[in-house]
Amino acid sequence: MRDVLVLNGPNLARLGSREPEVYGTATLQDLAEACVAAGRELGLRVEGRVPVVLNPAAFTHYSYALRDALAMRTAPLVEVHLTNPAARETFRHTSVVAGVADGTVAGFGLLSYELALRAIAMLAAPDQAGPASRQP
Ligand code: DQA
Repeated sequence: MRDVLVLNGPNLARLGSREPEVYGTATLQDLAEACVAAGRELGLRVEGRVPVVLNPAAFTHYSYALRDALAMRTAPLVEVHLTNPAARETFRHTSVVAGVADGTVAGFGLLSYELALRAIAMLAAPDQAGPASRQP
């Protein structure tokens, strides 16, 4: 069965009470249950336990909404960047995402993604990832 991660952005936790005339009366919990049920019919497993490799791009530096959404997940998260933000403009030196990620890989171009996937493989199945899976 294929896994699907459904992520909801800012303010959607208030569904049900937030402008019901616009968004309806279903809560976020109702929405989540509807997604799981629809996924089951479609042969998809809808959940928040799917490992994530994320390049948050400019959201990295200021999006507390994204950070809060990521903090809710229950699977490994590796933040990835093509460039090394720490070696660029000052505003890029802050990542609001890093604190809720398991780790960050930055500065290696496309290789950053491969390294991030290696980290996910280790974090998701530490017993099968070989000697490199040892904790520092
Ligand atoms: C980026 C770095 C960010 O500072 C920038 O806003 C991006 C790309 C990177 O992959 O190097 O959009 O995330």
